[in-house]
Amino acid sequence: MDKQNDQSRMDKIVSLAKRRGFIFQSSEIYGGLNGFWDYGPLGVALKRNLKDCWWQDMVSGHDELATPAGAPEPYEMAGLDCTIIMHPQVWKVSGHFDLFHDWLVDCRESKKRYRYDHLHGRFASHRNKRVFVVTDQSGDEALPHTVARAQKFFGLRAKQIDEIEWEGGIEPLAAGIAAGTISTSEALAPDAAELGTLTDPREFNLMFETRIGALAGGDDDRAFLRPETAQGIFMNFKNVLDTSRVSVPFGIAQIGKSFRNEITPRNFTFRSREFEQMEIEFFCKPADSSAWYRYWRDRRWKWYLDLGLTAGKLQLREHHADELSHYSVGTADIEYAFPFLAEGEFGELEGIAHRGDFDLRSHSEGKLVRQDGQLVVEQGADGKPRHRGSGKDLSYFDDVTRERYVPHVIEPSAGADRAVLAFLCDAYHEDEVPDEDGKPRSRTVLKLHPRLAPLKVAILPLVKKDGMPELAAELYRKLKPHMAAMYDEKGSVGRRYARQDEAGTPWCITVDGQSLADRTVTLRDRDTLVQSRVALDAVGDLLRDRLRSGGS
Ligand code: GAP
Repeated sequence: MDKQNDQSRMDKIVSLAKRRGFIFQSSEIYGGLNGFWDYGPLGVALKRNLKDCWWQDMVSGHDELATPAGAPEPYEMAGLDCTIIMHPQVWKVSGHFDLFHDWLVDCRESKKRYRYDHLHGRFASHRNKRVFVVTDQSGDEALPHTVARAQKFFGLRAKQIDEIEWEGGIEPLAAGIAAGTISTSEALAPDAAELGTLTDPREFNLMFETRIGALAGGDDDRAFLRPETAQGIFMNFKNVLDTSRVSVPFGIAQIGKSFRNEITPRNFTFRSREFEQMEIEFFCKPADSSAWYRYWRDRRWKWYLDLGLTAGKLQLREHHADELSHYSVGTADIEYAFPFLAEGEFGELEGIAHRGDFDLRSHSEGKLVRQDGQLVVEQGADGKPRHRGSGKDLSYFDDVTRERYVPHVIEPSAGADRAVLAFLCDAYHEDEVPDEDGKPRSRTVLKLHPRLAPLKVAILPLVKKDGMPELAAELYRKLKPHMAAMYDEKGSVGRRYARQDEAGTPWCITVDGQSLADRTVTLRDRDTLVQSRVALDAVGDLLRDRLRSGGS
């Protein structure tokens, strides 16, 4: 499929998400708020199912007695739910206060703001005038955007486009400026008519700030909305250790909201300003940490496949040494080929990072920096720690080996909203099915894994009379306590199937004339379209078995 079609596919997914109540723009009746999204009735069920799958597969359903495939030994898992606002020192010591920023540039003419690393461009000349045409578009849209911008700047008609002379391909603006091959005075900003309207880049911290208390005003009242859930886990490492009888190796898991004041939120929910994360901090013995890193990387990769993401659209990417954070020994990203990206590009769903002892040591000793290959406490101008740690001992004493050490941490960190978006994109299909008269009818279907599907089953009386609604309602009430079931008697049965296909409901049950005679019903499978006759009293057990076994 070419990218043009992929973009139109993305547009259809966004439109389906709105039309069927999966995802709405936040505060839409006031014109919306960029980077904030609400989940409607079907969307909230899909997202809740996704988070429940994660929690069940990683935490509540974890067998602490067995050694899972690929793991060095059995391990324990504990859950946590901590606050969004934490002590401001958390963010100073974690490095977010000093380092969690993007570079931005403003356009003095259009008043628009851009992420510096999102600006690319190329040199264009026409009649001795040479400009660097800047675009904020990505992928396949960048090149045509520069052509349109240059055409407008040079005042050319469409048939004169060939008169423009281009030098080289698209290159990052920042790299050209750093190398001295581009000057801002010759740059044509993406939304400007004049040259040289971009400001110098400046840092912009992505943390949302707030104030604590009614008499807020001073610097001491300043607080931040968490940009990741992970730090709350480090804050409670000792609490969990002291209260829940876990021993190393063990993991603490948390699902919750995170906030980042992204400069350019974009691509539907992919880059939002408020989003949910599903994070695990896994604490292990330093000597075993590489084996645990590989275990979690492979385990998390398999999770997406088991829930049905197409293998060919997923990519596991190990970071190169120069991409790693200063404390990281290894990081891998699980990435998905979202339809809004250019051919061959992937967007991050989850990062699995080997963080060494950076976090626990930092929160104990003070913010760490790497010097001569060692992590040392960063000093301020006064020779004291730049950001003081808690001073609490966050080491672990192993009763069996009588060793004391600071555990190393493996962090699988996933985004719930990005995962929902990937599953929606992957599930979206258009095909043809025979209608009631056997004629082919095009349909839109979400082939969601039954565990993720917002509704598991719809119960449809064939007609609204002759006792069919009553029998269908009886079945609905039987199934409802066990699974998300819906009763629908409105419209032709074909239209009702179509509605359920769009919602991703894996099964429809039709109650018809024969059902009244022999208490059998028709069970329709969303993906295979196979319709089978089953006993009404057995259908609940049958669907429960299918849900347990993943749908087949
Ligand atoms: N504690 C590590 C951490 O937060 P990250 O790579 O910055 O790492 C982890 O974020 C995951 O959170 C990402 O892989 C992504 O799925 C999700 N995420 C991050 N920023 C996001 C945003 N602005 N909108 C939606 N999801 C986001």
